[in-house]
This record gives sequence, C-alpha cells and structure tokens, in this order.
Amino acid sequence: MNACDQGRGFTEEQEALVVKSWSVMKSNAGELGLQFFFKIFEIAPSAQKLFSFLRDSNVPLEQNPKLKHHAMSVFLMTCESAVQLRKSGKVTVRESSLKKLGAAHFKYDVVNEHFEVAKFALLETIKEAVGEMWSAEMKNAWGEAYDHLVAAIKSQMKPAE
Ligand code: HEM
Repeated sequence: MNACDQGRGFTEEQEALVVKSWSVMKSNAGELGLQFFFKIFEIAPSAQKLFSFLRDSNVPLEQNPKLKHHAMSVFLMTCESAVQLRKSGKVTVRESSLKKLGAAHFKYDVVNEHFEVAKFALLETIKEAVGEMWSAEMKNAWGEAYDHLVAAIKSQMKPAE
C-alpha cells in the first residue's frame, strides 16, 4: 500500500457531503464526466493534446469511450479518497496502481496547471449537478479529497520502472 499522509482531520461530515452528492450524481456519471472534461478543454484547450486517444481518433469527443472512462476515474477515485481520508487519514491506492497512475501522468506531461484546471472544472460540474444541495462545505470536502489524491499521484510521477 502506498499512502499520502496529510489527511488527518477529514471529518465524517465532509465524507458524508461527498458521498451524498456522489449518490445523486452516480446515475448520470457518464454525462457528467463528459461535461467535466469539456470544461477542462474550454479553459485549457491544449490539454486535449495530452490524450493519445484523442489525438489519434476521428470520433467526436462526446463519443470517445476512453475520455468518458478517464472522467469517471477522476470522479470515482476522488469520492473513494474522501472515504479513505475519513477512515484512515490518508489516501490509499494500491501501490502498483499508484505507480502506474504516476507514470502515465508523467509520460503524458500532465503538469500542475492541468491538475488545477481539472479541480476547478470538477467542482463546477458537481455544483451544477447537485443544484441546491451545493454548499461551501461540500466544495471544500470534494476539493480536499481531490487535493490529497493528486498529491498521491504526484508523489509517483516519474518514469515507469
Ligand atoms: C491516464 C486518473 C487527472 C491526463 C489516467 C488513467 C487514470 C487516470 C486511472 C489511466 C487510464 C484511463 O483511465 O484512461 C486520473 C485521476 C486524476 C487525473 C484520478 C485526478 C485526480 C488528470 C488530468 C489530466 C490527465 C488533470 C490532464 C488534463 C491523463 C492522460 C492520461 C491519463 C493524458 C493517459 C491517457 C492516454 O493513454 O492517452 N488518468 N487522472 N489526468 N490521464 Fe489522468
């Protein structure tokens, strides 16, 4: 197991906010995932070039299954991170998966700014999806879970061994 160790203090309330909003969004996750990535590409069009499966594809963005898959991974893993942070104070991703994640993002030159833009886009997408359920506390809870997950990925951003 590999861990990112600064999550002490992630509360039960924060976990509940993430889990509650995810349960509302879950049934529409594919669509939301696309909205999320469209927002990223709107703010940072150059991010499209990072994805080999977009560069080499004639399929329109919204029909690209890999893009949807990636977007869902970000949503799901952030939600799982919130649960782990509350349970153990750290984000725990299987070491082999974390190494792969780190190596993939390193290989494709994903930089800090991309993670920042993605955070903004993720929070905006959730805000629009949950409507009146949205609050500053909910934003902080998702934001914190995302930050810890990204820190774990960044800690492994080096060439594949
Ligand atoms: C690959 C997760 C953020 C760009 C992957 C993969 C996962 C993943 C699981 C492996 C394969 C797949 O699902 O497609 C995550 C998580 C993130 C995150 C959990 C944030 C918490 C980002 C950001 C960018 C990015 C912000 C750039 C805007 C990529 C690229 C690949 C990749 C370029 C390789 C795709 C290819 O094979 O061409 N990511 N990602 N990721 N990710 Fe992320």
